Amino acid sequence: MSPMTLALSRRTLLKACAAGAASLSMPGLMLPARAAGVREFSLRAAPGRARLVPEPHGETPAWCYNETVPGPEIRVRQGERLRITVENGLAEETTVHWHGLRVPNAMDGVPHLNQPPIAPGGTFVYEFDAVDAGTFWYHPHQRSFEQVGRGLYGPLIVEEPEPPKVDRELVWVLDDWRLTKSAEISNDFGNGHDMSHNGRIGNTVTINGRVPDARPVRSGERIRLRLINAANARIFSLDFQGHTPTVIALDGQPVTPHAPMGGLVVLGPAMRADIILDMMGEPGSRVSVIDRFYRDLEYRLVDLAYGETAFRDTMPDWPIVLPANPLREPNVAAALRHEVIFNGGMMGGMVMAEMGGSMGEGTSRGMGGGMMRGMMGMMHGNGIWFVNGKAAEGHVLDPMLTLERDGSHVIAMTNATAWHHPIHLHGHSFRVISRNGEPTPHREWQDTVLMAPREKVEIAFVADNPGDWMFHCHILEHQAGGMMGVIRVV
Ligand code: C2O
Ligand code: CU
Repeated sequence: MSPMTLALSRRTLLKACAAGAASLSMPGLMLPARAAGVREFSLRAAPGRARLVPEPHGETPAWCYNETVPGPEIRVRQGERLRITVENGLAEETTVHWHGLRVPNAMDGVPHLNQPPIAPGGTFVYEFDAVDAGTFWYHPHQRSFEQVGRGLYGPLIVEEPEPPKVDRELVWVLDDWRLTKSAEISNDFGNGHDMSHNGRIGNTVTINGRVPDARPVRSGERIRLRLINAANARIFSLDFQGHTPTVIALDGQPVTPHAPMGGLVVLGPAMRADIILDMMGEPGSRVSVIDRFYRDLEYRLVDLAYGETAFRDTMPDWPIVLPANPLREPNVAAALRHEVIFNGGMMGGMVMAEMGGSMGEGTSRGMGGGMMRGMMGMMHGNGIWFVNGKAAEGHVLDPMLTLERDGSHVIAMTNATAWHHPIHLHGHSFRVISRNGEPTPHREWQDTVLMAPREKVEIAFVADNPGDWMFHCHILEHQAGGMMGVIRVV
């Protein structure tokens, strides 16, 4: 496409989303040379049905993009421009957030903060450049705990100009559903117990919208597996037993290829990992992938079933290092430092205070049912979780931090709760530079960092994308319970 055509199509866009008052440039961000072309996509969010669980169960009424769960895979090359028309066929407002993509603020999909919500029957046109190559995903940002929980999410893949050579690439979008005996989605979204504990943990785990059958593999083949955790709350810790996964990207961003700690690929909600899997098993063998995150609740996610004949006898030694994305390197020594403390939740400071400090830490078993109900009553709705002492209500918030644009910033975060939290910042990727005071071995770029109970994590980045950005826990019940804030870049 000639530059002329591109300019024309941008003008058309300006007309199309005048309502969103879109600022289309992202000054300050380094853009790779843009391959010409605008790629058009359309998504329609609407009630539908999904075959999550096999016969004899029926299909599950769900909310779908384009009638499927997950929604359609959006796949572009780095440097291409995307134009995505979203139509709302739901009976309530929605938006779409492009998780992990560094887009201009007006395209980020947070209702009221970045755009008016899309009314039932309405449409909104999103347009932005695929600045970074990597594994991303999209989901609503309006009542996400229910909209995502009912099936609204999909993968968004940005290919490198020259991807590393592999025999096969697979995308696994993981989700966790709370289904009733008749395979319907349980309606208890946003209940006080889920909100104040570890979120809506379900009872049915799917890969790409289905309880998985065995996956066929061949001895000697090299697979690039893109993992996306689209669950509201479940954290995965995947053991590929007998295989040695090599992590090459986290949250879409390249990382020095390495074996994950303990051999386990850990993914909090919203997190992604690209791994290279060399299929070293014997022809005809079967290996289970086990999720080991929750103690004593390990289960078999899926089997890898080797074909009877080998594909190749020795593993290839093709390079696997991904080319860097155009991220600006923070100057940590000169960075401004900001402290953020997360509080609240069951067994957290707030509950302890309400109970007069009488409850032992680490267990709620001693409480009588009446007391528990009383407490749940007090805690229902917002105000369960706190970021620097404030529990958020809705998306329009006074900024908790204002960062000077193009400056380097370190956010020193403390998880003062008894729970894990995957903390997500919009509009930027950040380096995770330390955990509990120890430098991280890979200084990985992430957009969502999983914090263990009581853990301290430091992240560093250049605040190069102006606007008001959400900063929140991606356990969607924690987010709804107040665990979010706004970071302003001016
Ligand atoms: Cu994936 Cu604020 O979200
Ligand atoms: Cu959380």
